[in-house]
Amino acid sequence: MTLKNDRFLRALSREPVDVTPVWMMRQAGRYLPEYRATRKQAGDFLALCKTPELACEVTLQPLRRYSFDAAILFSDILTIPDALGQGLYFSEGEGPKFRKIIKTTTDVEHLPEINIASELAYVTDAVSLIRKELNGKVPLIGFSGSPWTLATYMIEGGSSKDFRMVKQFMYDNPEAMHLLLSKLADAVTDYLNAQIRAGAQVVQIFDTWGGVLSASCYASFSLQYMQNIVAKLIKENEGQRVPVILFTKNGGLWLESIADSCCQAIGLDWTINIGEARRRVGDRVALQGNMDPSVLYASPSVIRAEVGNIIHNYGEGSGHVFNLGHGISPGVSPENVKIFVDTVHELSAQYHT
Ligand code: CP3
Repeated sequence: MTLKNDRFLRALSREPVDVTPVWMMRQAGRYLPEYRATRKQAGDFLALCKTPELACEVTLQPLRRYSFDAAILFSDILTIPDALGQGLYFSEGEGPKFRKIIKTTTDVEHLPEINIASELAYVTDAVSLIRKELNGKVPLIGFSGSPWTLATYMIEGGSSKDFRMVKQFMYDNPEAMHLLLSKLADAVTDYLNAQIRAGAQVVQIFDTWGGVLSASCYASFSLQYMQNIVAKLIKENEGQRVPVILFTKNGGLWLESIADSCCQAIGLDWTINIGEARRRVGDRVALQGNMDPSVLYASPSVIRAEVGNIIHNYGEGSGHVFNLGHGISPGVSPENVKIFVDTVHELSAQYHT
């Protein structure tokens, strides 16, 4: 099927575009009243993820309001630990929690051997349905958490401020940690390949917590596993390249080594100047990002100015996918998102000839 809007894929391949493409991490979510209504209809967040028709509906909601150049599958990175029997639940106001927590080497050894693709059929069913409903409007992004980021939740039992337990586990039992990460890397590979087969046209790996590691631990406990995954992903589907975006939050110090992983694009948080990032990676990869999500709380004139700065800092030519430096925050006004998206298209035109 030919895409009506292929700007996002073109920018990821650093091919010419008319304007800079834009999408937003967590573009379907609590800031939208229609999302809150569909979540209520589902009962709760996990039920929403596990019902393909409703996951499809909330994936499409932001595309009805805004001119985003990509859709992202509505799901969560914690579906893999859930499928591995950790018992995921969300308690109101506290974020994700697990009934079972990895505490010992034996817990890692006893993780079940399961067929991830079939355990997570609700996700691939959602992918196929979304592709059908999109009908070529924009490309669809599939995603997964990185092995390290998934391991932090499995060992901490939920979100963490200091990562005390996962780091203690890593430093005290590096072999068990590597065993856990390699099991997760196998699961992530199978999961992303299943999403690609079901119709995901781009995949993004969210390494939300890679940036809490030291430089050497990042290389061996996070980046190495993402690199192994990238090497085993399906390279081409439906006659099109399937680009991979690696997003390590707080990974600005390690851009050169991330670019060496053979990914097609690097997701940037807002702590780095995108122009400097571009000079460092050269034309090896495309860049995605990187506006501070909190800018969307500010007034329209501030949003426009900040979008303009980032476009200016990136400079002329293709290879930039505009995004926030992390997911959109819950209390942002839907009107500000419209200003953000339209401004990216409006102000970037002059940088593309
Ligand atoms: O980008 C998208 O629109 C796709 C959907 C998506 C969600 N989670 C939906 C979601 C994606 C890509 C994710 C990824 C995810 N999930 C990450 C990596 C990216 C990141 O933001 O760092 C992480 C760490 C998770 C784990 C997770 N899921 C947490 C920590 C939480 C709680 C967050 C909170 O603010 O309460 C979730 C829940 C979650 N995942 C929500 C959404 C829309 C909110 C649930 C709700 O409706 O109340």
